[in-house]
Amino acid sequence: MCGIIGYIGNKDVLSIIISGLKRLEYRGYDSCGVGFVEEKQLKILKTKGRIEKLQKKIEKTNTKIAVGHTRWATHGVPIEENAHPHTDCQNRFAVVHNGIIENYESLKKILIKEGHIFRSETDSEVIVHLIEKFYNGNLKEAVKKTLSQIVGSYGLIVLDKQQMVVSRKGSPIVIGVGENEFFVASDISAIIEHTKDIVYLEDYEIAVINENGYSIISKDDQLVEKEIQKIKISLEQIEKGNYKHFMLKEIFEQPTTIKNSLAGRIDLNNLTAKLGGLEEVLTQEPLKKIKRIMILACGTSWHCGLVAKYILEKYTRIPVDVDYASEFRYRNPVIDSSVLTIVISQSGETADTLSALREAKEKGSLVLGVVNVVGSTIARESDCGVYTRAGVEIGVASTKAFTSQLVVMFLISLYIGRKINTITDSQAKEIIENLEKISRKIKIVLKDAENIKAIAEKYKNSNNFLYLGRGINYPLALEGALKLKEISYVHAEGYPAAEMKHGPIALVDENMPCFFIANKDQNYEKVISNMNEIKTRGGKIISIATEKEIEDLSDEIVYVPKTLEVLSPFVNVVVLQLFAYYISDFLKRDVDKPRNLAKSVTVE
Ligand code: AGP
Repeated sequence: MCGIIGYIGNKDVLSIIISGLKRLEYRGYDSCGVGFVEEKQLKILKTKGRIEKLQKKIEKTNTKIAVGHTRWATHGVPIEENAHPHTDCQNRFAVVHNGIIENYESLKKILIKEGHIFRSETDSEVIVHLIEKFYNGNLKEAVKKTLSQIVGSYGLIVLDKQQMVVSRKGSPIVIGVGENEFFVASDISAIIEHTKDIVYLEDYEIAVINENGYSIISKDDQLVEKEIQKIKISLEQIEKGNYKHFMLKEIFEQPTTIKNSLAGRIDLNNLTAKLGGLEEVLTQEPLKKIKRIMILACGTSWHCGLVAKYILEKYTRIPVDVDYASEFRYRNPVIDSSVLTIVISQSGETADTLSALREAKEKGSLVLGVVNVVGSTIARESDCGVYTRAGVEIGVASTKAFTSQLVVMFLISLYIGRKINTITDSQAKEIIENLEKISRKIKIVLKDAENIKAIAEKYKNSNNFLYLGRGINYPLALEGALKLKEISYVHAEGYPAAEMKHGPIALVDENMPCFFIANKDQNYEKVISNMNEIKTRGGKIISIATEKEIEDLSDEIVYVPKTLEVLSPFVNVVVLQLFAYYISDFLKRDVDKPRNLAKSVTVE
């Protein structure tokens, strides 16, 4: 998520902009910039890296109006040219944008044909050239026309000599009202120290702000009178969005982040995935030569790889191996150009995964990177890749990044399967239809958070847990156990449910809660018998279920919505994430920064 701030008034404008950008740092960013008007000229200062670097470029100015932006890259690596604000060819307007323009490639092609010169690789830059194209003296009208061409999400400010035109669709924008001064921001944390009087913009509304005040028009061009609201919450609360921890906020962000990971990547005409980062390299020819897929990752990303094995083998019929990156790199792996290597990494900086990538490349394998942080080392060293677009993940325990990784692995399976003709039209339709419903199904699970919290409270003093699942939900058992271990410091093990009888069942007694992933799928009957084995030995069972009939086998039960078996990890993992979170919180652990852990393990 990018951070946006704008100001018009008589105070020290750029210090207000810079302090506002600093308030937005918690959202994560890789570059930043400011735009302001001095002696009727538009001035732009931008930099890759931190706000302190930008500050060094700023000299004394008497400007009365300015905008600022922190960029979390989704399209185009984090370099100065890709930082916002972006300006049109004549340097007349400056735009800062938060969101994703799904149809930017087609718009950019048309604008270039019409003679516009682009200076960045970003999707956002098309906005300011469209405004330039449509401008005929009325900036608000030009912005309206521009927004009617855009498919995607936006929260934006357009700056010209003496006014800001502001609009939003899907990305929040607030207006702050001061004494003869006005603020605009992507969230109130950037401006709350200056004013608590806030006007919330709704989707499609357009505001025009100048030194005399502001006016807001609705989508159908009607003037909108809005009530000024007084903000009562603290800055700390704002950054966490009223959640107690970033991890909880990120768990609840998943319906949105999954939509972002999907946005603009479904080609309904050809019933396939549109993955710009693959289309040049992973064409039909090289794909036809692929005899095996090797997935390399660590931790939660490795669990995503295990889930992806089921998906890729189901839809592409290409054999898939999944390995810990740390193990792969030291076993002189049998790998060559007939193997497609997929590396999965949220941070894009994990040392083991990076070394494994280099080992695979050295042995002639084509490497596809599935990464969240744009421009990270793993992203840059992969031969091709797909960004997960989960936004910055602050909690050390990975949650929304995991489900975004799953989305991308689905899209890659669809992309490959359609290229090598192993996915029929009806299968593709089924995948797409059900993938697009996942966001809503996760919302249903999130609504049951209080029930999950109550179960966590009941078992918060247990010292050991077993997590059990079968098939595509076996990796979920591993992920559930890891989530609990890493944020609550309680021991937990994930196992294929059938493995219980080969030893671990000796552990089972009334003090060993067993978490069963027991959706109604092809393994359901087998899971039921595994649950019976535990029950008859006095074990306590917590079930994640789709059917009421296992109530009498379960001491606790959490229902999840039915979905395709291959999509069930999406709804099941949210229960496991919330359970681990609540246990950790009840035990008063440092949920966002658990002991001994780092967000990115950049050492071996
Ligand atoms: C996940 O909850 C953990 N924090 C950890 O296992 C993480 O998944 C692992 O270190 C890999 O990180 P990466 O995805 O950034 O490569």
